[in-house]
Amino acid sequence: MAITVAEINTENIAHNLHKIRTKTKDKYILAMVKANAYGHGMIEVSKFLRTQNVEYLGVALIHEAVKIRQAGDNGKILVMISPEHQDADLFIDYNIESAFSSFDILKSFEKRAKERDIIIYGHLYVDTGMHRDGMAIEDAVPFMEYVKDKPNIKITGLMTHLATADMPDIAFGNKQLERFENVRKELDSLGHKFKYIHCSNSAGILNYPSAHYNMVRPGISIYGMMSNKQMADEMELKPVLSWKSKVIHCVNVPKGDYIGYSNSPAYPYFAKSDMQIALVPSGYADGLPRNLTNKLQCLINGKRFNSVGSICMDEFMVDITGSDVKQEDEVVIIGKQDNEEISVYELAELANSIPYERTATISDRVKRILV
Ligand SMILES: Cc1ncc(COP(=O)(O)O)c(C=O)c1O
Repeated sequence: MAITVAEINTENIAHNLHKIRTKTKDKYILAMVKANAYGHGMIEVSKFLRTQNVEYLGVALIHEAVKIRQAGDNGKILVMISPEHQDADLFIDYNIESAFSSFDILKSFEKRAKERDIIIYGHLYVDTGMHRDGMAIEDAVPFMEYVKDKPNIKITGLMTHLATADMPDIAFGNKQLERFENVRKELDSLGHKFKYIHCSNSAGILNYPSAHYNMVRPGISIYGMMSNKQMADEMELKPVLSWKSKVIHCVNVPKGDYIGYSNSPAYPYFAKSDMQIALVPSGYADGLPRNLTNKLQCLINGKRFNSVGSICMDEFMVDITGSDVKQEDEVVIIGKQDNEEISVYELAELANSIPYERTATISDRVKRILV
């Protein structure tokens, strides 16, 4: 049995989807499950999301899509990051769709689909100002004109991504949306119709209600988080993941001894008095940032305790001096215990990071359990 687990609350995923659907007036959902479903367990979460009738699953890379297929999924899957030429066969073999950011890739995919006498489906991804994925907006019309009479490629969607959707100033987002709407109208006037039109990630869903078109692409909100807690509360989301472990050992440390590795000048921990230490089997290889050394807190028996000594690869130590903490007591790293809570926002702030990174970097070694 795994000692360290991430409990995934599927009831809360369903609740969050319901909130997203209410906000978007029941638009199609493309649910982002990339990066191991933001650390929540891609296969388990994908299976659950299919029971909730999402139209698409979204991933970053073709290999993520292949894993989902190999686990038995038959629904639509869209790969967001531009693939390589040689990936065409994977897209064909596993019936996966590509968000095309590159005219070049489209041409080689079309060639391969023709050779194999099959259709590759995809969406046209236009860059309206984020300058990450997506093709230059002026290439959108030539792209669709090229595709028009190619029977082996079908472009069913038009999409873009907003750079500043989670920021209070909506001016740049509106500029991107204006560019998107202009190109959509131009394509429409040339007879290019799309079954799916989509721009909004979670923050877009909240902050740009007029830009939901007919599909939205929530990621973080499905998992009950947003960039900050205020936005999550506004969406009435419920956190999905709780990271739990157990005390595996309690140790007495005499005054004057070190605790853990003290070979790093940045992180020595030296007992200034007699102490009791509890050992918890979670470390940086599980996704706890080592630079939280001497800052990380956890919950045991409904109370907060400080970690002491450097966070190791597989474990960290907790100062339990004077408490009744004992072996096998539950330890909460993210989540609630009695009336106390350590939120993902707290952990993110402590690590000078964002909620996305805190859950996405919880490693495979932490067993995901649907609850
Ligand atoms: C193209 C695209 N759409 C949607 C999302 C989901 O974003 P979020 O998790 O902020 O909802 C992402 C995530 O990075 C993305 O790259």
